[in-house]
Amino acid sequence: MAGRTVLVTGAGRGLGRELARQYAASGWQVIACSRNLPASGLKSAVEFQPLDVADPASISGLAARLAGRPLDVLVNNAGVRSPVPGLDPLRPDEFLEVLRINTLGPVLLTRALRANLRLGGDPVVANIGSRAGSMTEGLLDDDDDDYAYRCSKAALNMATVQLARDLQPDGITVLSLHPGWVKTDMGGANAVLPVEESAKALRMVIAAAKSECSGAFLAFDGRQVGW
Ligand SMILES: NC(=O)c1ccc[n+]([C@@H]2O[C@H](COP(=O)([O-])OP(=O)(O)OC[C@H]3O[C@@H](n4cnc5c(N)ncnc54)[C@H](OP(=O)(O)O)[C@@H]3O)[C@@H](O)[C@H]2O)c1
Repeated sequence: MAGRTVLVTGAGRGLGRELARQYAASGWQVIACSRNLPASGLKSAVEFQPLDVADPASISGLAARLAGRPLDVLVNNAGVRSPVPGLDPLRPDEFLEVLRINTLGPVLLTRALRANLRLGGDPVVANIGSRAGSMTEGLLDDDDDDYAYRCSKAALNMATVQLARDLQPDGITVLSLHPGWVKTDMGGANAVLPVEESAKALRMVIAAAKSECSGAFLAFDGRQVGW
């Protein structure tokens, strides 16, 4: 995998940091993006780039700095939940902020880096979604009632399908990926999947991605998730 380049958003902690760590350990060139400081615990070879996915100016600034550089994999990982879930506490500004980060951010960043992906080899855009956004499976065994989070991830799935069609002429594969219930700040201590396992499995799904599958919604174990 020497010479392959991956960009990971939200790489300061959680799943994003682990993905960046593992890709770097496997010999990839890693562009680790986060809002504030370079992620701690990553190899010095990992390149840090500041990025707030909620800020279009931050996205265009990143794209300008990366102009002309090939990108093989873009992992749209950065994500947030509502400060307080539930119908009654729902606040319009907070709802829209979750959509801005979880849905609009990945769309704008993918558009901004399209030229870089065109220069990559078998390029893949991995949108880290969630089964919580699935109409058919989201409520099965998950009593989470975070309206904004669920809606943002459902909308991200539609963005994946639309991007898959728009980027098909460039040979860019686009996937929505459910990482499992992962032990991170977001997943919490009761989560079942160590972050190392989720990241390793996601890297395998990304590596196996075929253009015929562009627009799919897959879990970390490769299973197709119902929309
Ligand atoms: N953990 C789970 O069980 C689970 C399940 C399903 C899906 N997911 C998805 O997996 C992804 C990673 O989640 P996680 O568990 O690693 O969450 P996490 O531990 O809370 O980390 C979230 C990451 O997103 C970054 N982020 C938030 N807003 C951002 C912004 N505006 N611009 C740039 N970065 C931003 C955070 O950066 P700061 O450090 O700057 O806040 C942090 O690095 C998310 O998309 C999440 O929805 C997670």
